[in-house]
Amino acid sequence: MKKVTLGKTDLQVAPINFGGNVFGWTLNEQESFQMLDSFTGAGFNFIDTADTYSVWAPGNEGGESETIIGNWMKARGNRQDIVLATKVGWDFGDGKRKGLSAAYIQQEAEDSLRRLKTDYIDLYYTHIDDEVTPIEETLSAYQELIKSGKVRYIAASNVPANRLIESLELAERTGLPQYQALQPHYNLVERTKFETEYAPIAEKYNLSVMPYWSLAAGFLTGKYRSEEDLNKSVRGQGAKQYLNEKGLAVLDALDQISSKHDSKPATVALAWLLAQPLVAAPIVSATSQSQLETLMAAPLLDLSAEDLALLDQASR
Ligand SMILES: NC(=O)c1ccc[n+]([C@@H]2O[C@H](COP(=O)([O-])OP(=O)(O)OC[C@H]3O[C@@H](n4cnc5c(N)ncnc54)[C@H](OP(=O)(O)O)[C@@H]3O)[C@@H](O)[C@H]2O)c1
Repeated sequence: MKKVTLGKTDLQVAPINFGGNVFGWTLNEQESFQMLDSFTGAGFNFIDTADTYSVWAPGNEGGESETIIGNWMKARGNRQDIVLATKVGWDFGDGKRKGLSAAYIQQEAEDSLRRLKTDYIDLYYTHIDDEVTPIEETLSAYQELIKSGKVRYIAASNVPANRLIESLELAERTGLPQYQALQPHYNLVERTKFETEYAPIAEKYNLSVMPYWSLAAGFLTGKYRSEEDLNKSVRGQGAKQYLNEKGLAVLDALDQISSKHDSKPATVALAWLLAQPLVAAPIVSATSQSQLETLMAAPLLDLSAEDLALLDQASR
């Protein structure tokens, strides 16, 4: 499998990033192991999670996803083969654990390492901006983690564009660590914010882009085409907002192109992301082997200029 290098790092990833918010939510530990085995068995190596996943599932307290990934890497003895991304800063919902203060980052990184059963994180994300903590304090905390070898590189998600620029410039001026990658909300039905606000920043600072909700919570698979379809999964309500003229036009374009290539809408939607020059690896999840196959097929699908133009027009 051809690998891509992230930003100015030495991290080499195969171009699909498995999204870990299903672990401990829509997949139990045994099912999670099966997905991870198939994914890595096919030559993929990049896994995305967060300290809080999957705190929203009934009965969970957060950390379940990291724990499952940690158990899996320990059982398989494959930590060195995996590029592991996790995140800090999102609210656990208990009113205490959140933010990007130095003390919190230090403690949360230790907790993540314990759950992941490893002594280093390859890519450590700011999960969401903290407007109270000075950026310098946050980057200094990351610097300590990098110096001690507990974190290799840092990245950003859900940081407003102006604050992201502030952080990147501060790092450049001071020698504090600089974000090497960006995790934006970006897919065929969510283009505007990334393309207008973030793409110029990613280009200027050489940030690799890992879009999240690459399939728009499943909408771009084509399985939600009516209100009744929304009951197909717990994720259905997240797809409801796209059941409109524009969303259905995008599905129509995906249908045309997938039938032409004997492929699937999900595969085409990911191949479109991969054809965008700043995108390194779309983040996406699957809850069955057959779903996983459609995701892993994306790097092998070459869309023609005509296909890309049709998708561009439908999703504009
Ligand atoms: N940084 C952030 O703030 C942030 C926010 C959100 C997500 N993320 C990351 O992005 C990852 C991806 O998000 P996501 O998993 O919620 O959304 P997604 O990738 O847009 O949708 C994936 C879901 O679509 C369904 N699916 C996948 N392939 C399919 C196929 N071929 N046919 C039919 N259905 C298919 C599955 O759900 P069903 O079980 O419903 O079938 C799967 O779990 C997360 O795991 C997380 O790591 C980050």
